[in-house]
Amino acid sequence: MLGRFQRGGKALLGVDIGTSSVKTVQLKQSGKKYELVHLGISPLPPEAIVDGAIMDGGAVIAALQQIFDEHKIAVKDVAVGVSGHSVIIKPIKMPMMKPQELAESIQWEAEQHIPFAIEDVNLDYEILRSPPGTVEMDVLLVAVKKDIISEYLTVASSAGLNVAIVDVDAFAVANAYEAAYDVTPEEVVALLHVGAAVTTVSILRGGILLFTRDSVLGGNRYNESIQKMLGVSYEQAETLKLGGQVEGYTAADAQPAVDLVNAELAGDVRRSIDFFRSAAPSGIIHRMVVSGGVARLPRFIPFLSESLDLRVEISNPLRHVKADSKRFDPEYLEHIGPQLSVGVGLALREAGDK
Ligand SMILES: Nc1ncnc2c1ncn2[C@@H]1O[C@H](COP(=O)(O)OP(=O)(O)OP(=O)(O)O)[C@@H](O)[C@H]1O
Ligand SMILES: [Mg+2]
Repeated sequence: MLGRFQRGGKALLGVDIGTSSVKTVQLKQSGKKYELVHLGISPLPPEAIVDGAIMDGGAVIAALQQIFDEHKIAVKDVAVGVSGHSVIIKPIKMPMMKPQELAESIQWEAEQHIPFAIEDVNLDYEILRSPPGTVEMDVLLVAVKKDIISEYLTVASSAGLNVAIVDVDAFAVANAYEAAYDVTPEEVVALLHVGAAVTTVSILRGGILLFTRDSVLGGNRYNESIQKMLGVSYEQAETLKLGGQVEGYTAADAQPAVDLVNAELAGDVRRSIDFFRSAAPSGIIHRMVVSGGVARLPRFIPFLSESLDLRVEISNPLRHVKADSKRFDPEYLEHIGPQLSVGVGLALREAGDK
């Protein structure tokens, strides 16, 4: 389930089932490069996905079928991503031991660290660091509740799809980053992914995920803030947030409500970084790369850069992906890119990956 991306297997369609929309990405490997084969987005009604759980399976199936029909996608093997409170990713310290011993004791160790019964989760882990001569090693523990996995499998199979890989959104974002940027061994980068309902901060050193933390803050919070301040509907708030105007108000009127959430979000991101630093006091972060739909919010990137005192840039997971400009409008791809980082990260996975 975890496992870094390997080559040689069969290409999969990346299926990102987000709170606001289903996004699919298909890539084809040509030499060392990738080429974009399909890209599909279909909106979901509010409440279809709540905290990563599928509340309205029918809506998700319909969105998937709409994408498959519209784009005439033939691939049936997919990689899906899960997120939300059913996913626990935790760096832990373990006494230095051999990989075989670790495999045997991780179950017991995990029980101390995760809030679910061990028989209810699928467990995975990765050794982050085991410096020679030390008595402890750092291990990243990953636990995903079995019931959320089975929800995703059920919905996919009702849509006629076969789930070859279940990944975790934070890992997909990290994989997409690794494929798009030149990662140096010592560089520490914070990946900030801001979707409609969830914000994830992940910290990578040399492309390896060291730390990740979710909060239930995202694009929807901006709408709620605008609604409350201006007394408009949710849809009107969305229009204002995207820079449009509605009866009686322009985007400028919504700015104070947007600013409030920007500050709230930046505060939350700072807390995540503080958590990381409390475990790794020397933890300097060289830059931050932002993905998810909210990355496109005007003035969001400079605001973050200023309030976190960091170099912040917008992610482009398609940076190294070739795309036929007759099929895909380059301007659109550039615009939508940040929103595709989970989908791209999933599409990079191959059947036969762990
Ligand atoms: N240009 C834009 N400016 C501001 N916000 C935007 C823009 N484009 C999209 N968004 C917001 O981004 C959010 C959707 O992003 P994304 O598709 O990454 O989320 P999701 O995957 O559906 O949700 P989640 O990952 O939280 O479950 C919505 O809140 C949407 O309003
Ligand atoms: Mg998402």
